Amino acid sequence: MLRISVLVSGGGTNLQAIIDGIESGSIQGAELVRVISSNPEAYSLERARKHQIPSVVIGKMNYPDRRERTKAILSALEEAQTDLVILAGYMSILEPDLIEAYRGRIINIHPSLIPQFCGTGFYGKHVHEAVLSAGVLESGATVHYVDEGVDTGPIIIQEKVSVLEGDSPEALAARVLETEHKILQEAVKIVIASKRQR
Ligand code: GRF
Repeated sequence: MLRISVLVSGGGTNLQAIIDGIESGSIQGAELVRVISSNPEAYSLERARKHQIPSVVIGKMNYPDRRERTKAILSALEEAQTDLVILAGYMSILEPDLIEAYRGRIINIHPSLIPQFCGTGFYGKHVHEAVLSAGVLESGATVHYVDEGVDTGPIIIQEKVSVLEGDSPEALAARVLETEHKILQEAVKIVIASKRQR
């Protein structure tokens, strides 16, 4: 079983997509072993509780020192014997030590067609505002491996989403979010299959 830990900061609809994928049997061969939230108020924590997934808050409030915070995340991941780390709406940048420890085993979901509209400052609503002001007809979502850059690692899967006439950032965000959930489930299946072939 691939042991998955999910790092979150917010509502956790992407976390929920993984929970649903596993509980429905659509995703086989993986289990959720830890939810780590940077935000004590994140609804993601409620989702974890409802599905009996052990969770822990590790954020600037309880670990103000950057290095201590990274050490705490690393020990939470190791304690859970994590095989795969998923960043799902996680709003902090991972330190190089963490990237190194889990190189090739961290994936992130981003709400655009990388390499467009990504990198520093392109998160959440900012992504969709930039897409709309650029006047492009297509946006999308991407799951990629995480490396030291911001949204720069190898792409696992991405899917286009139409930008519709008169779209508000919120409307576009909601449409992209549905695609995020779908491709995140697919990405987990791809990673499981790739680990099996080794
Ligand atoms: C959304 O903006 C999503 O595009 C990005 O993180 C934000 C919240 O996701 N991946 P979630 O509902 O907390 O999973």
